[in-house]
Amino acid sequence: MAEPNKVATLTLDGKTHELPVHKGSIGPDVVDITKLYGETGAFTYDPGFTSTAACQSSITYIDGDEGILLYRGYPIEHLAEQGDFIETCYLLYYGELPTAQQRKAFEKNITYHTMVHEQMAQFFRGFRRDAHPMAVMVATVGAMAAFYHDSIDINDARQREIASHRMIAKMPTIAAMAYKYSIGQPFVYPRNDLGYAANFLRMCFAVPCEDYVVNPVFARAMDRIFTLHADHEQNASTSTVRLAGSSGANPFACIAAGIACLWGPAHGGANEAALNMLKEIGKKENIPAFIDKVKDKSSNVRLMGFGHRVYKNYDPRAIIMQKTAYEVFDALGVDDDPLLEVARELERIALSDEYFISRKLYPNVDFYSGIILRALGFPTSMFTVLFAVARTIGWISQWKEMIAEPNQKIGRPRQLYVGSERRDYVSLSRRG
Ligand code: ACO
Repeated sequence: MAEPNKVATLTLDGKTHELPVHKGSIGPDVVDITKLYGETGAFTYDPGFTSTAACQSSITYIDGDEGILLYRGYPIEHLAEQGDFIETCYLLYYGELPTAQQRKAFEKNITYHTMVHEQMAQFFRGFRRDAHPMAVMVATVGAMAAFYHDSIDINDARQREIASHRMIAKMPTIAAMAYKYSIGQPFVYPRNDLGYAANFLRMCFAVPCEDYVVNPVFARAMDRIFTLHADHEQNASTSTVRLAGSSGANPFACIAAGIACLWGPAHGGANEAALNMLKEIGKKENIPAFIDKVKDKSSNVRLMGFGHRVYKNYDPRAIIMQKTAYEVFDALGVDDDPLLEVARELERIALSDEYFISRKLYPNVDFYSGIILRALGFPTSMFTVLFAVARTIGWISQWKEMIAEPNQKIGRPRQLYVGSERRDYVSLSRRG
């Protein structure tokens, strides 16, 4: 970390303390409170970590006011439109875009590790068929540590790399197996001649009696969805992965923890909620009444897919999602999909309405992604699973960055204790 260029002062109990202020390469200054407890005996209080930087990172940068998202400095729009997911994985993991030779080697490495240990199929068969695919994902990804225990020594850089490659490569296979199992179809093995997204679509939609010929527009759409969700700095699931990893837990266990966190509706489940809302509205004529309901605070109805904790401007990913939705519907030969029509009209009305303008509420990445995934043939129960496939590279890159940090220590937040003070044990017969 660079030497601090200014200090903040804090006065507590009449004593003044100087706190170093660090400057990032871009973004807000950060007040360093690491010595605060030692010097003052006081902790800071920040539930939800809304004002706390828990780590240094050089992977992803977000400027929510300006609607900017950079992976290793490159705008998300450039990567989604001019690059692809494999390149994005390389960039996030290694820090630079690959040369042609590096890309070829990396792609081959990932492609040739997509198959999972055959014994994992037995493991899948232990689940109920009606289990949620995210429950199956948490368990099977955690179980990878049992199948690939030759790559769980986190102190060995080569083993860390092998485990990372394994997860990037096998996550689509595991996700497709979770889907196939839930619909009672046989697992479809990966094919080494297909690209990452196309292979995934085929593993989900082919059956032994009929192959699935991947439409390149669909493969491109899937690839973009993966790219747009690849990383998003220190969000809840990424912070979970870092915290789990800070104890020295193996990478498969850490990613399983990230998947568990992502499963929550406030994190990975929003595109499902947005799609359900569009279905509930049903047609354009019902939009004004729905908007009235959203503005009525007593209704507790929100416009799903609108607003974001960090973006107070257009989510840059939403613009690409909207374009991708049109491409997919074009390829399907559908020019009047009612849900797409409702989405477009809802967006138009909301963007010109004072309620949304004054609160800086813009469409987020989830507004259009549900429509696209539904058009590709995925049921809503798979939406969060697809998010997990995409986010694996972000989680694993952040985990790798954390492990390589020389001053890395176990995460241990403090608390503001508001419980009972010390009291003596009362035997059962004397309790009222
Ligand atoms: N629809 C209607 N009003 C909204 C919405 C919305 N989607 N989002 C925020 N508001 C209003 C709130 O009612 C509040 O109004 P008030 O000032 O009159 O009380 C104001 O905007 C600020 O709301 P907060 O909840 O404080 O904003 P916050 O930044 O904390 O919320 C959140 C962010 C949770 C994402 C919110 O916008 C929301 O619930 N959106 C819908 C769910 C959604 O799409 N989530 C996906 C996020 S993207 C992702 O996770 C990948």
